[in-house]
Amino acid sequence: MNFLFALTLIACVIFGVDGARILVVFPHQARSHYNVYEPLLKRLAEKGHQVVSVSHFPQKTPLANLTDVDVSSSLPSLIGTMTMSQSDKVYKWLKLKSVLENRGSVICDPVLSHPGLRKIVQSREKFDVYIVEIFVSDCFLSIAHVLEIPIVIGTITSVTVPWANDVLRNPEIPSYIPNWFSSYTDRMNFFERFGNSVDFFVTKLAYRYLSDNPSYEIAKKHFGNDLPDFDTLRSKISLILTNGHPVISTPRAVAPGFKELGGIHIPPSGPQPLPKHLQDFLDAQGNDGVIYFSLGSQINSSTMSNQVFAAFYKAFEQVPQQILWKCSEEKMPRLAKNVKCIEWAPQLSILCHPNVRLFITHGGLLGTQEAVYCGVPILGIPLFGDQHLNMAYFVKKGLARQLNYQQLSYEPLSNALNELLTNKSYTDTARKASLQFRDRPIPPLDEGVYWVEYLIRHGPGSLKIAAADLTWYQYLLLDVILVTIVSILLATWSVYKLCKLVFRRKNVASVSSNKKRM
Ligand SMILES: *[C@@H]1O[C@H](CO)[C@@H](O)[C@H](O)[C@H]1NC(C)=O
Ligand SMILES: *[C@@H]1O[C@H](CO)[C@@H](O)[C@H](O)[C@H]1NC(C)=O
Ligand SMILES: *[C@@H]1O[C@H](CO)[C@@H](O)[C@H](O)[C@H]1NC(C)=O
Repeated sequence: MNFLFALTLIACVIFGVDGARILVVFPHQARSHYNVYEPLLKRLAEKGHQVVSVSHFPQKTPLANLTDVDVSSSLPSLIGTMTMSQSDKVYKWLKLKSVLENRGSVICDPVLSHPGLRKIVQSREKFDVYIVEIFVSDCFLSIAHVLEIPIVIGTITSVTVPWANDVLRNPEIPSYIPNWFSSYTDRMNFFERFGNSVDFFVTKLAYRYLSDNPSYEIAKKHFGNDLPDFDTLRSKISLILTNGHPVISTPRAVAPGFKELGGIHIPPSGPQPLPKHLQDFLDAQGNDGVIYFSLGSQINSSTMSNQVFAAFYKAFEQVPQQILWKCSEEKMPRLAKNVKCIEWAPQLSILCHPNVRLFITHGGLLGTQEAVYCGVPILGIPLFGDQHLNMAYFVKKGLARQLNYQQLSYEPLSNALNELLTNKSYTDTARKASLQFRDRPIPPLDEGVYWVEYLIRHGPGSLKIAAADLTWYQYLLLDVILVTIVSILLATWSVYKLCKLVFRRKNVASVSSNKKRM
């Protein structure tokens, strides 16, 4: 008996030290968002942590140490639901409004009301770490507060969104860091820097009013009126993981609590083998190669306008390549002879096949990262979210061209295809970018696991900088600047007064001496 007890104790000590209980909440129902950090959750479970994952995408086959709480019934699926014209918001402030209104506070109530999530909250289960997606609403930070989880980690599936920088005082300087909603790059002229600075304020204000305020009301409904405000809840975040990397997004200064893990969703062992029919198809196109075309999972390709379809038909007909298009054939109009429709595409494995010459995409970050990883040039037709930002960067780097969906017609499409397929410089640049993107001290997945465990070992404050405890006017030195300006004004005023006094005395003196002379 004693022996058994001792054994259990030893086991507890051995596993208990390393194994943390981790609650993960991915409230947003876009598959691509979950895909980015799914490998991180799996790896944490493999390492012996107990992971409870609340998301819309439960594992098909259950994994040891990973418990799924499926909340997919709370929100409608997004797959294939977006029409081309709906998604194409050209003006950036419309994009901002659309994201805040359609993806922000509207998801709070359905997901927080889901019985699976409510059960976790009501049972007051103990967790050591809370991992939550930072996207367009912070209502889910309330869970870490009510469950008193000491370590809070935010994950972002794109480069950092503007409102996530304040939390850890990540340097956010509009002179060279383009706004998430813009299509600027890190080289801006005066007018662009001006516009980017305006965007900087507009996005923050819009977030406060269109996301924070309604989200906070909903959170209070669920967790009571004494729920601290979101600024307080956000200040509990100790680490933010993002999907940026200097090769695929603006190289920038980051605070120690910000970790750029661009490409974390790409398996460290590289792409999986292709299914036989695709392998045979791609192998057979040795001479001219293949163009891979995908607009991601949310866009419904069959909702393209007839003119755009006609433009693609004519342009594709004239290139020697075969086109592999992710689409469902029965819903599409007649396609050119060299176009093959596939419903499901193992994208990374296709892009890394040596016969793939070009990737046509909406410019989503995951697909374009995969193209860069594989060294394939890109033709982008950016539509929504961060796609304009991503494409602007790739165009600037010289590995991509982009087209405007509104003005998409045969001429520009055909010109872009010819340029990308015949001018070697795009492929060369893409190859170089691939080498640079893969050149890491450790794979991003291992790095992500490392930082999560680092916080478990050293505590939530271990990556914080003192700037996080300053008020905004202290951080921006506005108090110092104010005192300096006031001092200069005072000094100037005193000198002026003094001069006036001296001058008057002199005047008076000279007047009186004049009088004497008279
Ligand atoms: C699950 O966690 C335990 C420790 O808690 C660990 O020994 C085991 O290897 C993990 N299982 C898998 C399949 O990763
Ligand atoms: C995509 O659009 C087509 C044509 O408008 C429609 O028939 C189809 O149902 C749509 N698919 C989805 C998943 O909404
Ligand atoms: C190929 O593209 C590069 C980069 O856009 C450009 O500088 C160069 O002039 C092009 N070469 C030809 C032959 O068009």
